[in-house]
Amino acid sequence: MTEPTRISHRIASIAESATLKVDSKAKALQAQGRPVISYAAGEPDFATPAHIVEAASRAVLDPKNYRYTPAVGLPDLREAIAAKTLRDSGLSVSASQVIVTNGGKQAVYQSFATLLDPGDEVLLPTPYWTTYPEAIRLAGGVPVDVFAGSEQNYLVTVEQLEAARTERTKVLLFVSPSNPTGAVYSEEQTRAIGEWAEANGLWVITDEIYQNLTYDGVRAVSIVEAVPALADRAILVNGVAKTYAMTGWRVGWMVGPADAIKGAANLQSHLSSNVSNISQRAAIEALNGPQDAVEEMRLAFDRRRKAIVAGLNAIDGVVCPTPEGAFYVYPDVTGLLGRTWGGVTPTTSLELADLILDQAEVAAVPGEAFGPSGFLRLSYALGDEPLAEGIERLQKLFTA
Ligand SMILES: Cc1ncc(COP(=O)(O)O)c(C=O)c1O
Repeated sequence: MTEPTRISHRIASIAESATLKVDSKAKALQAQGRPVISYAAGEPDFATPAHIVEAASRAVLDPKNYRYTPAVGLPDLREAIAAKTLRDSGLSVSASQVIVTNGGKQAVYQSFATLLDPGDEVLLPTPYWTTYPEAIRLAGGVPVDVFAGSEQNYLVTVEQLEAARTERTKVLLFVSPSNPTGAVYSEEQTRAIGEWAEANGLWVITDEIYQNLTYDGVRAVSIVEAVPALADRAILVNGVAKTYAMTGWRVGWMVGPADAIKGAANLQSHLSSNVSNISQRAAIEALNGPQDAVEEMRLAFDRRRKAIVAGLNAIDGVVCPTPEGAFYVYPDVTGLLGRTWGGVTPTTSLELADLILDQAEVAAVPGEAFGPSGFLRLSYALGDEPLAEGIERLQKLFTA
């Protein structure tokens, strides 16, 4: 029998978000006056576009926003999300199939909680976003890592997924573009994986939060657009945070078939009820208003992406595939391990991340936060100048 503990085993076993941990360490050092350049944060450095902020400030003055509203979200926002889902994911849904959540993060958690019974397995393409395994375990499920390295551009294959499938497999997590790798599945790869999931009766939770941030003319085709027959067993997760520089507004959503949405709506009605009406009004403007600012931000990310990939690949021992989406690069740094830099010999990417923070005052998240050691995640959602300065510091450190 397990010993009683002050707090529950379930909660005590949750790991602190490693990305937030590195970011707060970097911020604490900055607060002490250290000139730390941080590539750790997963959020755009831009201000939310003015027309969205103005919609919110009008909403603040309108008393109709001062009360509880439906737990699943404002009807106008649910309509706007249904229209966006058709526009960008090629799936026709009614507003009743949408739940507005406190960020995509709540949608991720609620999706797993809605689908999983104890012991159900979830295939998790690895490297994975650090929240997925914790959300799966909290829901009683078992994450099953399916690893794809830099030599396959961090994209898993149907063969790998099939090798990991068991009779307990219930869900496939699919995310394209990916956090942490920025990798985007081609339409053919997406279709092959979707058809395999459909043929095996799996549910798919597809996290599309970076779908509007792609480069080189690439489009991240939704798995439900590639395989429409999946729609009855698919939950789409999305939100305004990344596309509209709205991380602090906390508006995300989940879209799915009626039974899953009904269950998740019941859960949310007891958990958090409606998202702030002010934020929801802002999100309506984001989705229905002009999209010019989105394109401007995307172009800036694209410029920085090219600069960071070139700068990292110029370091001997670093292999950095060119990501086609999101705002992260995920270099393979195994070539730097076991060598001595400034008197220190890192053998893991965790130690390497500590070393570059100590010796170059550069913060990056180690691969251990997302799966195996041997990688770093660098977000290029920071200004062009600090981005260039940080890369110069790394080049200097590793050529010394
Ligand atoms: C892959 C992925 N999904 C979902 C989210 C959740 O975003 P938010 O809760 O800010 O909407 C994030 C944020 O980092 C993410 O990277």
